[in-house]
Amino acid sequence: MTLSFTALTSALQINRSDAELLLATAARMEAAIQKDGGTDLAGGKVLAALFYEPSTRTRLSFETAMLRLGGKVISAEGVEFSSISKGETIEDTIRVVGGYADVIAMRHPQMGSADRAAAVSEVPFINAGDGPGQHPTQALLDLYTIQKERGGIEGVHIAMVGDLKFGRTVHSLTQLLSLFPSVRFTFVSPAALPMPEKVTNLLREKGIAYIETTDLKEGLQADVLYMTRVQKERFADAAEYERLKLAYILTADLLQGKQCTVMHPLPRVGEITEDVDALPAAAFFREAHNGVPMRMALIAHLLRLV
Ligand code: CP
Repeated sequence: MTLSFTALTSALQINRSDAELLLATAARMEAAIQKDGGTDLAGGKVLAALFYEPSTRTRLSFETAMLRLGGKVISAEGVEFSSISKGETIEDTIRVVGGYADVIAMRHPQMGSADRAAAVSEVPFINAGDGPGQHPTQALLDLYTIQKERGGIEGVHIAMVGDLKFGRTVHSLTQLLSLFPSVRFTFVSPAALPMPEKVTNLLREKGIAYIETTDLKEGLQADVLYMTRVQKERFADAAEYERLKLAYILTADLLQGKQCTVMHPLPRVGEITEDVDALPAAAFFREAHNGVPMRMALIAHLLRLV
């Protein structure tokens, strides 16, 4: 089976059969890591990891994924150390790197940069985060995490908490979860940081249930509590960030007697206290680790290796 896309810039490109195929392949990749440390499916292939905005998890899990597939990695980090700082366009960068690598993963601070890159890329292109836009591979690994932690996705009630306006992970994950019409959403955010209408409109069009609230207690009733940080780097007004940055703080006390799985794309900057980490419900480090098998699955399918 093959994916319906050859470049991935948005979660909206992923259909239900793509999602199910990637979930199944990720599980196979995870088993291969546990058994043999990985596979050699991508022997002779090269991944270019272009990260023009800070990253720990996405970059290192893409690189680990390619290495565990038996491939190799080249990378560029930070606009200041690349020829983009000399005025080179994203398009020219991608045209050049496509001659060095078999697949490209790029993170860039500008929303829409991934679409520009994919439009000219001659090799499979993957959006690793474009400003406040999309983060489709985070959504895929989140989907895999929900399936593993909750035993399935159908019927799950997910509460997304925090900066829903600028948080690209919650935009992509909501769009991906809308492939499963029995999923319900509770969006918990400060009034100034609501889920964008382009995302809630999609849910309305599909007849999917959601509520919007400013009260974290309503989120604590969900099966999955998806915490997010307030995105400091997207604020023009530093005082506004300071006012909102710790609008919601999840503590172990708040989780007492609750059955929810706690997720967070990380990094956290105070919105989950460390006493939560020891609880069985705390899935956020397992979630980060799930990025490797899911990104292995995506690369393997895009390169037609499986
Ligand atoms: N979740 C995530 O995108 O983390 P990084 O910014 O560290 O890649």
